[in-house]
Amino acid sequence: MTDFRQDPRFADLAPFPSKLWLSSPTMHGKELHWVEEAIRTNWVTTLGENINEVERATASLVGRKCAVGLSAGTAALHLAVKLCGEALYGQPRAGHGTLEGHRAFCSDLTFDATVNPVSYEGGEAVFVDTERDTWNMDPAALEKAFDLYPDVRLVVLAHLYGTPARIGEIRAICDAHRALIVEDAAESFLATHQGRQTGTFGDVSIFSFNGNKLVTGSSGGMLLTDNPEWADKTRKWSTQSREAAPWYQHEELGYNYRMSNIVAGVVRGQLPYAAEHRDQKKAIYERYKAGLADLPVSLNPFLPDDEPNFWLSCLLVDTDAMAPQVRGERDALYRHEPGKSSPTEILEALAAFNAEGRPLWKPMHLQPIYRMNPFVTTAGSGRARSNAYISGGAPDVGADLFARGLCLPSDNKMTPDQQALIIDIVHRCFR
Ligand SMILES: Cc1ncc(COP(=O)(O)O)c(C=O)c1O
Repeated sequence: MTDFRQDPRFADLAPFPSKLWLSSPTMHGKELHWVEEAIRTNWVTTLGENINEVERATASLVGRKCAVGLSAGTAALHLAVKLCGEALYGQPRAGHGTLEGHRAFCSDLTFDATVNPVSYEGGEAVFVDTERDTWNMDPAALEKAFDLYPDVRLVVLAHLYGTPARIGEIRAICDAHRALIVEDAAESFLATHQGRQTGTFGDVSIFSFNGNKLVTGSSGGMLLTDNPEWADKTRKWSTQSREAAPWYQHEELGYNYRMSNIVAGVVRGQLPYAAEHRDQKKAIYERYKAGLADLPVSLNPFLPDDEPNFWLSCLLVDTDAMAPQVRGERDALYRHEPGKSSPTEILEALAAFNAEGRPLWKPMHLQPIYRMNPFVTTAGSGRARSNAYISGGAPDVGADLFARGLCLPSDNKMTPDQQALIIDIVHRCFR
């Protein structure tokens, strides 16, 4: 590990006096009003006006018939997968998942929360490689996956870092194969694909309101669908699946997944500021784009007809500007070379000056928990390959992006002067 504060490239720089976060909550005061209201009226439970209002406002803002507030995006994903599993394969036997004996195609470059629900429901995730234009699921690899596994009827897809996937194209492929889509829009609240919001393309879609998202409740998630029966079922499952009886009657598996009215109060106070947060994130992205234009790097790309929410600005080092970097399972080695750098060096330099960056999501097919699952690229099927990437030599798109990419500090509250210092630090890494 380099001692950046002693390194002559950085010697004249002072660290940020307080930490510059990757993406922290931005509160406005209204949140407290709705939380206080819940406490004053004693709706301190998983029922109440804040939940009702947040569900109504989210459905209307996004343009979906039904929205159900849940305890987390992960809970929403679990119930979304379960709804689709039951619709496709019927009610499971007691103690069994809805996907047992079935496969589902899943985004590969994503947070594991996207894909874990397939396992919760007893299914096998088949990972589909990533495309370079959006860093999301590659429609050509998805076509290949349907060639290899024609029986699959469920696709679980994420829009990463607030950038819409080629979701229109993917929807058409899924329709042709009579497959359902679970759309993980946890990171892409308010982003649009060809003028239409993410969160409206899935048979079931979800948002996350966890602490680092565009809009937060400290935690929380939302499930969206146009099927009122599915919304009712979600409400029932998320409150322990009680039947309409005078006692606690249970005829199917239940969960304690409902959103709290206190959490909903925070989300309710945040929603009016969602567009403002997105505009701040966009300004951050544009300042990075201008400030890093002279370096051998690029930012996370998006399609010309799309408008991301710019949740995180990410940087990709050009292949021929990668200094040597090797990642093992839990640690990394790197070496500096003049005119070159690597994500590990940049992240360590940022940390040395009290700024938080993050590696890109590590692809699922390289994760120890999932590396024996099938993985499909445009070239065909393969199991996970070597986990040791030498600069730029990665075998598939997801692994290549992971090797060369990182998330830059993208906090709404970062000032242009603070961001100029981040840009300066990145420049010094390439000296
Ligand atoms: C892509 C993605 N999917 C799912 C989740 C899970 O959401 P939550 O943290 O609200 O459970 C997150 C964020 O945390 C995410 O980034």
